[in-house]
Amino acid sequence: MSSLIHKIKNKKAQIAVIGLGYVGLPLCMEFAKKGFCVTGIDVDKKRVKSVSKGVSYIGDVKSSEIKLYVKEKSFQATTDYGVLSRQDAIIMCVPTPLRKTKEPDISYIIDASKKIAKTLKEEQLIVLESTTYPGTTDEVIQPILEKSELKAGKDFYLAFSPERVDPGNKKYNTANIPKVIGGINSQSTLAAKTLYGQINSNIIPVSSSRVAEMVKLLENTFRSVNIALVNEMAIMCDCLDIDVWEVIGAAATKPFGFMPFYPGPGIGGHCIPLDPFYLTWKSRLHGYEAKFIELAGEINKAMPKYVIGKIRDILNSFKKSINGSTVLILGVAYKKDVGDWRESPAIEIINMLLKKGANVCFNDPHVSEINTDSTSMRSKELDKSSLKESDCTIIVTNHSVYDYKFIVENSSAVLDTRNAISGLKGNFENVFRL
Ligand SMILES: NC(=O)c1ccc[n+]([C@@H]2O[C@H](COP(=O)([O-])OP(=O)(O)OC[C@H]3O[C@@H](n4cnc5c(N)ncnc54)[C@H](O)[C@@H]3O)[C@@H](O)[C@H]2O)c1
Repeated sequence: MSSLIHKIKNKKAQIAVIGLGYVGLPLCMEFAKKGFCVTGIDVDKKRVKSVSKGVSYIGDVKSSEIKLYVKEKSFQATTDYGVLSRQDAIIMCVPTPLRKTKEPDISYIIDASKKIAKTLKEEQLIVLESTTYPGTTDEVIQPILEKSELKAGKDFYLAFSPERVDPGNKKYNTANIPKVIGGINSQSTLAAKTLYGQINSNIIPVSSSRVAEMVKLLENTFRSVNIALVNEMAIMCDCLDIDVWEVIGAAATKPFGFMPFYPGPGIGGHCIPLDPFYLTWKSRLHGYEAKFIELAGEINKAMPKYVIGKIRDILNSFKKSINGSTVLILGVAYKKDVGDWRESPAIEIINMLLKKGANVCFNDPHVSEINTDSTSMRSKELDKSSLKESDCTIIVTNHSVYDYKFIVENSSAVLDTRNAISGLKGNFENVFRL
């Protein structure tokens, strides 16, 4: 143990990150920045080729940064797992999607663990960062790694540390978001604490890997449930002809006991719509049916359909139908200022509109192309003519670069699902809200 700690403290530890996505690539950069030699491993040859040439595909990572570390030889990328035998610490950042049945798909974690087991050596530290259900680290990964005949917590160290990165957030990043760490025993926690302590000064150790796994699920469930609550509040306010945004704004003046959440067209991304169901699944295995998570999922999932109802009503007020109308979607990414459109409610809204016979187009400064159920579409220029050609413009994602005054002035009707227009002065009769 002391030799691993010594190597880490002296920046002599070799670090491998498995999975070069939204989580893994920024993590590689942080360790490289602090003087470590980092190897990124990905099964996607295109990604490996891209970063090896110093070209970033993740908004929060600059190409110039990758280029610098590749040149300095502190960062390299490969598809070859053979490099693992030379590493002191290996961090897994692979995807954890849901199957169609809403069951966790941890096959990426299992695959990566089996590959680590092949060359596992004494004193190696293995950390999982992918969001998953409690028990994955000690019930699933540990037995796979121990097939190597080495004992976890004694011969090698094993921990879970949830990634809390918020893509597009200019203030908080991998280096300054407090890092929760839970090892399968105290030595594992100590090894992981020492490693992450090199890139983050705020380490929060917890008593076990299961606690650390559950922390992340509590955080994501908290968001899902509160977003669902406020989405339902928006629907009720609409029925009662009350401005939900004004209500939230005033409620948020309470200095304690209230935290504002905002309604929207639904939830997206690789975390909030999926992760809470990892917990319901695990909980069900232990005889408990989670109620809040299921209800929140139901309400949030129904929001795109609610938006379609709003579009129908707006077009109806202009004596038009969805069938045959042109609808322009502004923003298909699941949140502002990022290019990630996985699980984005915009895609569901587009699919529903296409099915109902609308001519749909979209603009997103961060997404050039999307695939819908029936076709692929490219982002359209956002100019006077594209706005004027559309019967209804829908603000689904409020990217900072959008000029809302220009949008409102040139559209015949706007459905604002994000309260994006609120800062504009004037009374815009063509603007409708969620
Ligand atoms: N994106 C976020 O904002 C975010 C935030 C916190 C936590 N997380 C969690 O982090 C994990 C990773 O998420 P992400 O958004 O970075 O995913 P991602 O899809 O952006 O990246 C994952 C990468 O892993 C690679 N990969 C898959 N299987 C592999 C294997 N066996 N070996 C090597 N590489 C493999 C993929 O090719 C891909 O490049 C997930 O569990 C996610 O829930 C994501």
